[in-house]
Amino acid sequence: MPQSTLRVAATETERGNLVTDDLMGASGRPHSARIWNYWLGGTDNTAADRAAGDAWLALNPEVVDVVRESRAFLGRAVETLARQEGVRQFLDVGAGLPAVENTHQIVQRTAPDAVVVCVDHEPEVVAHAERILADGAAGATRFVDADILDPGGMLRLVGEHIDLNRPVAVLMMGVLGHIPDLDEARDLVRYVMDRTCPGSFLVAADGTHVVVGEAVRKAGAEYADTGAVPYTTREPHEVESFFEGLEFLPPGCVPVSRWRPAPGDGVPAAVDGFGGVGRKR
Ligand SMILES: C[S@@+](CC[C@H](N)C(=O)[O-])C[C@H]1O[C@@H](n2cnc3c(N)ncnc32)[C@H](O)[C@@H]1O
Repeated sequence: MPQSTLRVAATETERGNLVTDDLMGASGRPHSARIWNYWLGGTDNTAADRAAGDAWLALNPEVVDVVRESRAFLGRAVETLARQEGVRQFLDVGAGLPAVENTHQIVQRTAPDAVVVCVDHEPEVVAHAERILADGAAGATRFVDADILDPGGMLRLVGEHIDLNRPVAVLMMGVLGHIPDLDEARDLVRYVMDRTCPGSFLVAADGTHVVVGEAVRKAGAEYADTGAVPYTTREPHEVESFFEGLEFLPPGCVPVSRWRPAPGDGVPAAVDGFGGVGRKR
C-alpha cells in the first residue's frame, strides 16, 4: 500500500524531521515503532520497516484500522482522564515514535500543566524522540530510555519526573504484545500499578485475533520472519486480565473503536484491538 494512502494528518515529523534510511535503522532490521509510524502515516521509517509493514498489510489490511482506532482511543482516554478525573501525570510506556495525536499533544491541549513521560527501549527511537521533543513544542514532556522488562529500573528513572505518590495514568498501548508470555506481561503491569497510588489509572490496549480472525495470526507469523521483534496478538479476555485488581471505567475492555466513541458515531465497527481504562482504588 503506498504510504500516501496511509497518511492521516500533518505530523510533527513532516515539519522537517524526516528521517532517512541512513540515519535510522542502522541495524537494517525493521522495528515495530517505525512500522507503527508508517501505518500511522508518519515518515520516520525505513525501507525495511515499510517492507515488513507491507508484508503484514498483505495478509491483514485491517491492521491500519486497528492502528488508527488505537490512536483515537488513546486520545479519548487521555482526554477523559485529564478533563474528568483531573490526572496531571501521564506515563506512556512503549511510547514509540511521535506520529499523529501523540500523548504529549493531547495532554498539552487538554491540561497544559500536566507532565508526560514517554518510555521506550529502542535506542534509535529514544534518540529521535529526544530530538523531536527538544524543539520546545513538547512542553513538560520527558523521554526516558528504559525497558519495561526491568520495571524497577524503569520506575527509578521515571521517578525523576513523576511523583508516584500522586495519581498517574500509566499507558501501555501496543507494548504488551511484545512480551509473548502472558503471565510475564501481567506481572509487569501489576508491578508497575502496585507502585502507583490510589486514584491512578491503567490505559492499555493490544492487538487481538477475534474480529478478522486467523489472517491476523498469519500476518503476525510472517512479520516475525522479517526480523522484527515479534508481536503476539491476544484473546480479548487476556487483554482484560491486565486490568486485574482495577475498576474498569465504562464500557470496560472493548474493541478500541467502541470505547466511548464520539457522539453521533453510532456503534463503530469492531476492530482487532481491545483495550480499556482501569482505576486503582
Ligand atoms: C507497536 S509500538 C506502539 C507505539 C505506541 N504506544 C502507539 O500506541 O502508537 C510498540 C512500542 O513499544 C516499544 N517497546 C517494545 N518492547 C519494549 C520494552 N521491553 N520496553 C520498552 N519499550 C518497548 C517499541 O520500541 C515500540 O515503540
